[in-house]
Amino acid sequence: MYTDLTGKVAIVTGASKGIGAEIAERFGREGVNVVVNYNSDKDGADRVVANIIAAGSKAVAVQGDMSREESAQLLLDAAITHFGQLDIMVNNAGMEVPAPSHEMTLDNWQRIIDVNLTGYFLGARAALKYFVDNGIKGNIINLSSVHEQIPWPTFAHYAASKGGIKLLNQTLALEYAPLGIRVNAIGPGAINTPINKEKMNDPEKKAALEKIIPMGYAGEPDVVSNAAAWLASEQSSYVTGITLFVDGGMTLYPAFMNGNG
Ligand code: BGC
Repeated sequence: MYTDLTGKVAIVTGASKGIGAEIAERFGREGVNVVVNYNSDKDGADRVVANIIAAGSKAVAVQGDMSREESAQLLLDAAITHFGQLDIMVNNAGMEVPAPSHEMTLDNWQRIIDVNLTGYFLGARAALKYFVDNGIKGNIINLSSVHEQIPWPTFAHYAASKGGIKLLNQTLALEYAPLGIRVNAIGPGAINTPINKEKMNDPEKKAALEKIIPMGYAGEPDVVSNAAAWLASEQSSYVTGITLFVDGGMTLYPAFMNGNG
């Protein structure tokens, strides 16, 4: 438990399932009131809201496609209307739709960049404007990926979006550090969430995946929400601009494991 989180208000985008849902619920257990954003999965968002309320905090589900300019402001308005303030903005909503790069349609490329990268800029911009205008030492957490560092064939748009998040994250951290606003990223590796369901249910794909994780297994979503709670709390008060990889060692060049090279 991070007692300084009690009474804080957070927005978590893409919080109807997977890592976003896990972070929203963890925040709820820490006493944080949460705006639970979803795009299409209203039932999922309603479940997350119910779990947060059952844990003793407040929550509201708000629909919004984060690639649209008005969505971030809608979420901010909801935070203020329902809970009176905003302290923590978690940019998490993301997508991956693989395609060989020479066959990738512009629509596919654009959609991933719009949601995964532009959506993060729009979310951060709305939160920063509010923090600056109100003199709040707010906190922004960007869910990046090991693929801000590791190239990923057939996921060129996804890897480019995460590489973009890396420098967006660092730039905003530098720009707002003098105001005490912290901006950090989390870089999950393979996590057992709906986005990886197909791989995890196919023994061959699962084994291939585990081979490139030095610790040998995909993480459960709480390994990521643990990092998010720490980054949101005062325990990390002197940390800004980092990407905290939560990846079982995936970024450590596993191909070199046995002294190869
Ligand atoms: C992706 C997962 C993938 C992991 C490791 C994440 O960013 O969302 O699908 O398993 O990276 O490659």
